Amino acid sequence: MAKKSKTTSGGDDALPPGQRAASGYLRGLQNYGDPDFSVYLRRAFARSMGYSMDELQRPVIGIANTYSRFNPCHRHFPELVEATKRGIQSAGGLAMEFPTISVHESTLAPNSMKFRNLMAMDSEEMIRAQPMDAVVLMGGCDKTVPAQLMGAASAGKPAIQLIGGPQMTGRYREHRVGACTDCRKFWVEYRAGGMSKPEIEEAEGRLVTTAGTCAVMGTASTMAAIAEALGMTLPGTAAIPAVHADRLRAAEATGAAAVRLAASKLTPDKIITQKSLDNATRVLLALGGSTNGVVHLAAIAGRLGLSLDLHRFNELSDTTPVLAAVKPVGNEFYMEDFYAAGGIGAVLRELKPLLHLDCMTVAGETLGDRLTADEALWVDRRVIKTAADPIEPEGGLVALFGTLAPDGAIIKRSAATPELFEKTGRAVVFTGLDDMNARVDDPDLDVTADDFLVLQNVGPASPAAMPEAGFLPIPKKLLRAGVKDMVRMSDARMSGTAYGTIILHIAPESHIGGPLALVRTGDMIRLSVKERRLDLLVDEAELAERRAVWAKEARPLPERGYDRLFRENVLQAPKGADFGFLVPKARST
Ligand code: FES
Repeated sequence: MAKKSKTTSGGDDALPPGQRAASGYLRGLQNYGDPDFSVYLRRAFARSMGYSMDELQRPVIGIANTYSRFNPCHRHFPELVEATKRGIQSAGGLAMEFPTISVHESTLAPNSMKFRNLMAMDSEEMIRAQPMDAVVLMGGCDKTVPAQLMGAASAGKPAIQLIGGPQMTGRYREHRVGACTDCRKFWVEYRAGGMSKPEIEEAEGRLVTTAGTCAVMGTASTMAAIAEALGMTLPGTAAIPAVHADRLRAAEATGAAAVRLAASKLTPDKIITQKSLDNATRVLLALGGSTNGVVHLAAIAGRLGLSLDLHRFNELSDTTPVLAAVKPVGNEFYMEDFYAAGGIGAVLRELKPLLHLDCMTVAGETLGDRLTADEALWVDRRVIKTAADPIEPEGGLVALFGTLAPDGAIIKRSAATPELFEKTGRAVVFTGLDDMNARVDDPDLDVTADDFLVLQNVGPASPAAMPEAGFLPIPKKLLRAGVKDMVRMSDARMSGTAYGTIILHIAPESHIGGPLALVRTGDMIRLSVKERRLDLLVDEAELAERRAVWAKEARPLPERGYDRLFRENVLQAPKGADFGFLVPKARST
């Protein structure tokens, strides 16, 4: 039975209607033309859920729950929700869980990236429209964390991210394995004839054995690290494995922190600033993190009128060492090792002289305060190196510019083959995914290991909607001849778990007429990672002729629905592939 309280009749009934709606369960009242009726009606429905009047007057903390049976990475979320609620209730808040769209990598067609913006819009509007004073954002799988940060940044209410956490590793025969760098290695071996069908099927059943996100420094782990580096999670929580008891304690602590955050009114725009974006970029680079992190960070920045300039990105890359030996960097360690080794905190402490320490965090302390408090913690130096003795002296990712990528492209040099960094090669062009699937393994394909594979029409505004197709398969005949890597390029993205000498996010993309659209098989392309250049070595007169032909080809838009909205509004990769109408005017800090 509901507890009787002194305020059973409504403690704030004496307040004018505008003030009643300012916080808690009575904020954002519907307008029926009678404010008192709005209060009365909302409470009537709230009381149907059994809440006492005491509870209804507490700060309301929303929990954006992305549990879905279509999202295996989030299958442990019900337990995390309970722990989060515990934290909220014990700190004096009222926990209100609500569902939003959930986006998993392998269960959405044509690809999950197409729905990141839809999830961001859902998150934003539900955070804004529902009566909550702060929100806990529960995300994990690749697109969910950026979608929630984008939405929360736009909604403008205090928000704290609770990361779902990575999977534990499993075993395939004598191998320790985890999704999904090992998934790709096995698949390459199978394609090359080194694994049989029964063997690859056995491996398939061993790769993902617990709840949580991919077990390596893929996009999910990278985005978790970015969320912590931005100051949007509690310190030390980004890398805790999904099934570890510390993850439940982190959920409880996050719930309690959300109640304090609601009181402090510390909104995401005070945490995500140009300075904290620099910090997050440094962490991304020091981890040799996912290339997708660049696109998502640009999108998060864009929501607050900030930018992730790719020239600035290169400046940071030149002065940030690679510190974490977590797959796909190195060949030994997984996220569970990274957490045990010291996690993001250990990386931040090594980067301390390079960071903006005055950035505020959701914990209500600055980054500098946090790092000082953690100074004495132990670090496993096999996994997290010192800045004085790094894996690489420069960052794992760089942006390339040139006649083939006037607005930029990205290469993950920490997962590439250095012998291929300074090279001129002959283009072997595929005009789209169907063309590539049809021809790449054709024994008659005219291709050598010195050629550059080029894939067109897979950028954000293409019908393919920027899939993770940038990890172009090496033609079978080359694989069987022992070729392990070759230069490959496209306007697509690549999974953070993938590796190779792969150039991604070429902008402007081919579908809107970027220079990539004009490349033909036989053209020469020059790559120089040292000079940060990617150039198409074809004279301008020839390109003008090709451009005129390209302009005459029809590219119809979808007739209706989200497809139409997406294709008409999506921005290019350097702007985060967000929708133009969701991005406010530029801000300077
Ligand atoms: Fe969810 Fe990799 S598929 S994180």
